Amino acid sequence: RILVLDFGSQYTQLIARRIRGIGVFCEIHPFDVSDDVIREFNPRGIILSGGPESVHAENSPRAPQLIFDLGIPVLGVCYGMQTMAQQLGGQVAGSNIREFGAARVEVVAQSVLLNGLRDAATASSAQGLDVWMSHGDKVTALPAGFTVTASTGSCPIAAMEDASRNYFAVQFHPETTHTSQGLEILSRFVLDICGCAALWTPANIVDDAIAKVREQVGDRKVLLGLSGGVDSSVVAALLHKAIGDQLTCVFVDHGLLRLHEGDQVMRMFADNMGVKVIRVDAEKRFLDLLKGESDPEAKRKIIGRTFIEVFDEESTKLEGIDFLAQGTIYPDVIESAAVKGGKATMIKSHHNVGGLPEDMKMELVEPLRELFKDEVRKLGVELGLPHDMVYRHPFPGPGLGVRILGEVTKEYADLLRQADHIFIEELRKAGWYEKTSQAFAVFLPVKSVGVVGDARRYAWVVSLRAVETIDFMTARWAHLPYELLETVSGRIINEIEGISRVVYDVSSKPPATIEWE
Ligand code: XMP
Repeated sequence: RILVLDFGSQYTQLIARRIRGIGVFCEIHPFDVSDDVIREFNPRGIILSGGPESVHAENSPRAPQLIFDLGIPVLGVCYGMQTMAQQLGGQVAGSNIREFGAARVEVVAQSVLLNGLRDAATASSAQGLDVWMSHGDKVTALPAGFTVTASTGSCPIAAMEDASRNYFAVQFHPETTHTSQGLEILSRFVLDICGCAALWTPANIVDDAIAKVREQVGDRKVLLGLSGGVDSSVVAALLHKAIGDQLTCVFVDHGLLRLHEGDQVMRMFADNMGVKVIRVDAEKRFLDLLKGESDPEAKRKIIGRTFIEVFDEESTKLEGIDFLAQGTIYPDVIESAAVKGGKATMIKSHHNVGGLPEDMKMELVEPLRELFKDEVRKLGVELGLPHDMVYRHPFPGPGLGVRILGEVTKEYADLLRQADHIFIEELRKAGWYEKTSQAFAVFLPVKSVGVVGDARRYAWVVSLRAVETIDFMTARWAHLPYELLETVSGRIINEIEGISRVVYDVSSKPPATIEWE
């Protein structure tokens, strides 16, 4: 196992995902984690992430001295390299000029980390590496014992190592796909240098998770809120495999789901897999409560609160439940830890973590707590869930409630469901569904004039939204082909009587958000 120490880079999670993808378990901890935690984790190697700060800034973060004393391999990336250099007696020059983007580094010396990587273009051994740079400061003098192993014109010490002590560092980012041999570099570090075995595979993860659940739960009963989303679906499949009939799922249908979604959830889990699922049809209750409310935050609160009420009512009807299962995944855990720690890099609190009622008597079962989203998906496939379901775009908890601007009504929801369905169907047909990270239709409560045949039509507007993103924190609007937009728009206006106009959202995030509310 590998320990990743986080200095606040936006790429830290990516480092961990790559290491897991190589088949080696790793965890992210903040740079100031205690020595006891490090010793207990007992890593075979440590990676120091990048970060936004300068080693010259007052109180900028440092790696714990312990990591250099454990006698295990250490790899510093970007800021991780700079703090390694400074802490071991080298020098770092500050600079206001950032080098950001693709660069070509030359391997300039014997290097355990970098020699003999395959050149992506020629498939032969590479002298030069195409890499991704994102830094201001740079190392200008090596610590004792180190050699320079790679250089660029503007960054003479682009990589360094002291192979006798197993210290390695790169100024560039091997975790991004822009660094073409990045995965090979990380593999070499964790497999060859640290000596980890690639045992972290979906099949092993399933076996391990099942064993853990059985141990925790024994012969007692577990309740799961099933939403039809990827995480709760994978939890359902996993728990069903682990404990069979000891699992009961409650599926609250708030009436703001996508077309036929409720029926699909029931067909897959109850009919096909034999999972015990209680479906609660609460459409009317949600719509009644939402009536007249057009403020986005108030709508979210109503939906969230009502969801919990309905779920609680159903669960109190059940007897003898000891555990509540949740689809909390690793990024939720990391982000909540960042929130609690009050770090500058904190992102958002997540409703799955820390938002539970104080008086909850049930113990939590969270079998995905250690997993990234891509691992959860692989697990889903391993458990036999359909590929299309597992690789579905994310769908927000409040559902169409945040995609109908202003007041939510059944008429609007029904129109939006149809439009959204057409959009997604055409995206899939054109092979664009996989190329976008999230795509959906938004209902605009504005009427516009059109002509259909000889008749004038005065009806509603929908906007199409499609984005490409890695982390959903930033996103670019998807450059869908005009022909595809034309097909979608034509079908929506022709097939849905209540819609007279379709527009395409060309806003990126930031400054716009992905959802409209
Ligand atoms: P925004 O609109 O903030 O969305 O750019 C980022 C991602 O978060 C999803 N999202 C939500 N998910 N409950 C959820 O479970 C919510 O209230 C919510 N709001 C936004 C959104 O779909 C996108 O993937």
